Amino acid sequence: MGRGVANIIARQTPQLAPLNLKITRAAVRNLTPARQAEHPDIALTTDALSIVNDPNIQIIIEVLGGIDLPFALLQQALKNGKQVITANKDLIATHGRELTALAQQHHVALNYEAAVMGSIPILRTLNTNFAGDQITALAGIANGTSNFILSQMQAGSSYTEALQLAQQKGFAEADPTNDVEGLDASYKLLILSRLAFNLDPKLSSIQRLGITTLRRADFAAADFFGYTIKPLVQAIRQNQQLRLSVAPTLVPKNHALAGVANEFNAIQLASNNTNSLTLSGPGAGSLPTANAVVADLQAVALNLQAHLTPTNAATHLEAAENLDLPT
Ligand code: HSE
Repeated sequence: MGRGVANIIARQTPQLAPLNLKITRAAVRNLTPARQAEHPDIALTTDALSIVNDPNIQIIIEVLGGIDLPFALLQQALKNGKQVITANKDLIATHGRELTALAQQHHVALNYEAAVMGSIPILRTLNTNFAGDQITALAGIANGTSNFILSQMQAGSSYTEALQLAQQKGFAEADPTNDVEGLDASYKLLILSRLAFNLDPKLSSIQRLGITTLRRADFAAADFFGYTIKPLVQAIRQNQQLRLSVAPTLVPKNHALAGVANEFNAIQLASNNTNSLTLSGPGAGSLPTANAVVADLQAVALNLQAHLTPTNAATHLEAAENLDLPT
């Protein structure tokens, strides 16, 4: 994805050109002459910490993946006063609270639109569109691999055939556990819930069910009653309770989420003022995700140009330990 970001920036669209953005350095795991030749204007290194500590760099974009190394690097970057953009869902789900606090302490931005649902601008929407409103519930399809597999099963494939096709197409990993057991979607639901409800629920408070036990017969039965089966994330706020779930769920065929097929993602928000808002689009893939990184970059660069102190996502999180799951 780093390559996708570099290529988009190199194109210098009319929106990007006035921002004078330049990628001067990039850290790579394997540095080869061929790799360096591909990007003659970017100094490549295997020493990511030297970039984080470089006083000439204002903005750090993290697309490494993993948790411990990027956590250490981004903590240092924020302490050094760098603006930080990351696409790392696992990192933000696990350490987002600490990183957000650090960013506020050092008056810098921490943006992570690309970490949740790829091309869909859901974090920006949650951060900017509900200032005078209260979100009461959200429901969505947050895992493209699961949605692809269930769409294939709806069309008559077995689970095994559908998984194999997802692997051939590069949606599912060789070990698809995180996608098909709902862990990837759970991480996204945690991040979404922080921004939607200003609460910080724990992973263990999500009722999670994977898609591996579904059979073709389940789709036939659902179809008979006018439903399809979708891999849904749901968060519903009821008074002082937050009910969070990730599970294959019956959806009426005429519902907006029923028509979101294959690897697409979607999210529907219910709020007091707007009632219902639905966004959908590609939830993964190099270019859609790189596009979200560049959108964050534009926001950060505009703030820097205007000498504005950034406002970070989820600024006033309350712990959600007191919000018990309904029994
Ligand atoms: N593996 C994820 C999905 C994409 O299938 O949606 C990255 O979060």
